[in-house]
This record gives sequence, structure tokens and C-alpha cells, in this order.
Amino acid sequence: MGNVLISKKIAADLFKETNTLLEELQGKGVKAGLAVILVGNNPASELYVKKKKIACDELGIGFELFRFDEKVSQEELLQTIDGLNDKQTVNAILVQLPLPKNLDSPKILNTVSPLKDVDGFTAFNLGLLNYGKEEIVSCTAQGIVRLLESTGVVIEGSNVCIVNHSIIVGRPLAQLLLNRGATVTICHAKTTDLAMHTKNADILITAVGKPKLINGDMVKPNAVVIDAGIAKENGKTVGDVDFERVKDVASYLTPVPGGIGPMTIACLVFNVAKLAMLHNS
Ligand code: GUN
Repeated sequence: MGNVLISKKIAADLFKETNTLLEELQGKGVKAGLAVILVGNNPASELYVKKKKIACDELGIGFELFRFDEKVSQEELLQTIDGLNDKQTVNAILVQLPLPKNLDSPKILNTVSPLKDVDGFTAFNLGLLNYGKEEIVSCTAQGIVRLLESTGVVIEGSNVCIVNHSIIVGRPLAQLLLNRGATVTICHAKTTDLAMHTKNADILITAVGKPKLINGDMVKPNAVVIDAGIAKENGKTVGDVDFERVKDVASYLTPVPGGIGPMTIACLVFNVAKLAMLHNS
């Protein structure tokens, strides 16, 4: 059986690193602050935002939540973001995704100042990443790479398959792995033969939200499998991977919960502290 790759220790180490940055800021009389914009009442988004608040509270990071009805106008959101861009006590701005379909997500995300873009979703920060400059990087993508690197698995020259093409995970993750010398394949809903790609992967990363999307036959023996999917099955939180089948094929496999989720939160507070340092150095 392969190793179950629990993230607790790596996430805790990143919390400690973040705390050191926050203490340095405190020494300068600065309290780091995160503003979160949440539109509508998607239950998954509500849960994620709650977890983000708990982590900020734990570390003494200021947390302001701006909630809007799903019928909010684009203009009102843009004005709110403009206000937060100018607000001294806010170092980091997060627009929780997904936004309702009628809103122009790229426009809203790119109204956030790149200097406060805690998710790294602005064209500016995504562009820097494409140049190999990893300044502020998507929390989930960053969390996956940090966890991968903690295993000592060789990324350079490896075949990586990512099943997700969003700007939250798949696209920034592909860049991070390209920057480290991997050969990257990105799969998505239109991919005709998913198994052909997944079976070729030394490192397989999935973030779809479809239980049992990845079964034992779709995994190369001794591959590292990272499951960033989240779904509910019979009232239980599960990932995309058929854990019981794949754990005997993979060399490492992340559990759900307890795998990538804690890494995303740890990377978020780290990014907040990093931005606050940037504003106060
Ligand atoms: N929705 C799901 N994951 C994320 C994330 O990391 N950041 C934001 N802003 N929205 C999300």
C-alpha cells in the first residue's frame, strides 16, 4: 500500500512561518488584514470562507467579510473593491469564487489591485507566474506544490497530468510545475480519453468534485496522486479518487479531507502575511 499523504505537519509548518512574518509586522505596529467578498449563498463557498476566518482569527489577522445578495450589481462590487484597494488596514482582498454567472468574473478579479491580490488571480500576477516569477500564487496550486515537494518526489522531467483547467487550480498549477521542469498535460470536461492521459502520469492531480472519477485502472503503478476534489457522497466529504482502490497502486495518495484543504488555508494566511510585508517594508 502507498503512503497516505496527510498535510497536517506541512500546513502547521507554514502556519509557523506565517506567524513569524506576522510577529515581525507586529513589531512595526502593523496588523495584517484580509477582506473577503462573498456573493450569494453557495454552501461550499460559505464553508470555505468560514475556514478562512477561523485561520485568520487564530493568527491575529484582521478579517472583514463583505456579503452580497446574488442579485448584486457588477457596479456595486467594483466600487467595493475600489474602496478596499484604497483602504490602509486591508492588505489582501479575496473574491470568493464562483461568482453568479451574470457577473463578469475576469473584470471583477482584475479590479483587485495586484498588490492586494491574495489569490494571484489578476492577469498581472498570473502573467508574472508565466514568466517564472512566483510572487503571489493561487493558494490551492501553491499548496499542492508545497505538499508534493515535501515528499521529495522528483518533479523535473516527470509526466504530470492535471484534471482541472480553472484559474483557481489547473492553470496556475501547470505553470508552477512547468517552472520546475515537468511535462504537463491539462485535462478537462472535453478531454476524449481521460484514462489515456492519467495512466501516463508520474504525478496525477485531480480537482473536479466527482466522486470515484479516478479508479485504480487509471493510475500508473507508483504514481503520486493528489486529490483536490471535494464532493458529498452519502453525507461524507469525499474527493475524486476511489481511495480504497488507488491506495494500492499509488506510491503517495492524499486523503479527503485532510489532504489539500488544509494546505489551501495555510497558503492563504501565508499570502496575506507576504502582502502585508510587501506593504510595510
Ligand atoms: N473557490 C474555491 N477555491 C477558491 C480559492 O482558492 N479562492 C477563491 N477566491 N475562490 C475559491
